[in-house]
Amino acid sequence: MKPTSLLLLILAVAVLAPPTGAGVVPDKIHPLRPQAGSGGHRIPGVSCLSWRLAVETDNIRNWDVVPSVCENYVGHQYRKDSNAVAWAAYQYAKGLTLKKDGKDVWIFDIDDTSLSNLPYYARPDNAFGAKEYNETTFTEWELEGKAPALPATLGLYKRLLKLGFKIVFISGKSESLRAITIYNMKKVGYYTWEKLVLKQASESGTTAMVYKSTERTKLVQAGYRILGNMGDQWSDLMGTNIGNRTFKAPNPMFYIA
Ligand SMILES: *[C@@H]1O[C@H](CO)[C@@H](O)[C@H](O)[C@H]1NC(C)=O
Ligand SMILES: *[C@@H]1O[C@H](CO)[C@@H](O)[C@H](O)[C@H]1NC(C)=O
Ligand SMILES: [Mg+2]
Repeated sequence: MKPTSLLLLILAVAVLAPPTGAGVVPDKIHPLRPQAGSGGHRIPGVSCLSWRLAVETDNIRNWDVVPSVCENYVGHQYRKDSNAVAWAAYQYAKGLTLKKDGKDVWIFDIDDTSLSNLPYYARPDNAFGAKEYNETTFTEWELEGKAPALPATLGLYKRLLKLGFKIVFISGKSESLRAITIYNMKKVGYYTWEKLVLKQASESGTTAMVYKSTERTKLVQAGYRILGNMGDQWSDLMGTNIGNRTFKAPNPMFYIA
């Protein structure tokens, strides 16, 4: 994963609570460092709502910092926005008539779609406090296997399984992280899948959009029908064989070309 731009300053930093028990999707965000830090980028005349809309519609690109007017967003609104996307996805999914031949597929991205890396970004010695995303410390964080689930996505995942979807995770995480990724996914409640696709070393120079398009094409060629596709980056949802419908999950932390 190579975010080109990262959040530098968020005043109200939050972390999603880990699942509290089987089938229970927690519904709370815990502020970690409310009111910590200072500064933040400002765009004159732009409110946080305007900024969020412009980012999600891909009009503002390659941004470096979340504007200071959005300081409360991650702590509060992010969670609600995630719920709205999961809700829309479920409304769509439950209206479909599945063939139930094992080929009805829903694709999820992993980082900041299925698993949340907010705790990493919230660490004072990591990206929140530093100038840029740091690949070394991010990999160390991944190797801890401690990423919580994004509750809205986990809830949707469980409902899609009940509807009869096969789940395919396509992630920009490295193949070398397979064991810890599986450990982390299962620990937080993603207990089954049809495929979990990780990026091979030979593909390390490939952009997220090209890599994910290639993997989706392989699925289609194998006879799978990609009915839904959810990711926090536009590069998860653009390119070829994107699926019958895509769902853009919010990401207040970074942007991947
Ligand atoms: C990333 O973090 C490591 C460990 O703290 C540090 O040694 C390295 O200089 C950092 N890299 C960059 C590009 O900042
Ligand atoms: C999904 O898209 C394909 C290709 O456009 C189409 O043939 C198929 O009917 C669509 N499926 C659903 C459930 O809408
Ligand atoms: Mg992602």
